[in-house]
Amino acid sequence: MTSAVDSYCVMGNPVAHSRSPWIHARFAALTGQALHYERCLVALDGFGQALADFAAAGGKGCNITVPFKLEAARAATQRSPRVALAGAANTLVWQADGSLYADNTDGLGLVADITRNAGVTLARRDMLLLGAGGAAAGVLGPLLEQAPRRIVVCNRTVAKAEALVAQHADLAALHKVELLAQSPQALQGSFDVIINGTAASLQGAGVPAPASVLRAGSLAYDMMYGPAAQPFLDWAAQHGATGRDGLGMLVEQAAEAFALWRGVRPPSAQVLTELRALLAA
Ligand code: ATR
Repeated sequence: MTSAVDSYCVMGNPVAHSRSPWIHARFAALTGQALHYERCLVALDGFGQALADFAAAGGKGCNITVPFKLEAARAATQRSPRVALAGAANTLVWQADGSLYADNTDGLGLVADITRNAGVTLARRDMLLLGAGGAAAGVLGPLLEQAPRRIVVCNRTVAKAEALVAQHADLAALHKVELLAQSPQALQGSFDVIINGTAASLQGAGVPAPASVLRAGSLAYDMMYGPAAQPFLDWAAQHGATGRDGLGMLVEQAAEAFALWRGVRPPSAQVLTELRALLAA
């Protein structure tokens, strides 16, 4: 049944924990947009069917979370350059002609949170990106577009870091960024900004880098938030760095998706402040 207001959802498995419905409801209220946004738990082998069902019911767009971001990129008929590079999509929109457009707003959200909300410039800085899975792949392009001096991609399985670096070599050259792949054992020197895009803490493993990568005043950013980010934030604090969790990235990637869907930019900084207060309560 087609609903009276435009309908959106977040598809994932698991998805019960997702804050996206709350965030988009606040964006809608604050911008005066009428829309409906719900969680959609999708069977691991049921992503294509879930998309077809949602489109048939009049759905206008969706956010995609773990583990469907790669499938979402493949399912689309049109892909943004960011999706083409990352091979992963977190935002889908059905267009008037029925075609399905895929974008990836994760990297834009990360950059917005670091540069606007945390006030840290990335241009000409030395950066370390920990991880070479889907999370890291989704943000490397927008990080390169900030034209840092250097990005080292460090991963336990170094071949995956090398593949990610090779995929982004042209973009790195365009922005004159030194882009390298390294194993944790080979890491040398310290960095202005360290971004954790690994799932190490979910497995109870320590931070997959030596503390020597931190320098006084480094920003140590975990793309996760809540308990999953805590070991990395504790590690940063113990070594004199400034820690930041990925809650702002979550809100800012949602803001980019909302702007794509609705043509209106929501007050994301206000919603981030509200969400922090809600989670702290
Ligand atoms: P995601 O989509 O969350 O990025 P993923 O694609 O499975 O998930 O990638 C997980 C990332 O966390 C990878 O970089 C992985 O390293 P490997 O490529 O070597 O597997 C990293 N990771 C997971 N557990 C880790 C651990 N215990 N120590 C170090 N890195 C780990």
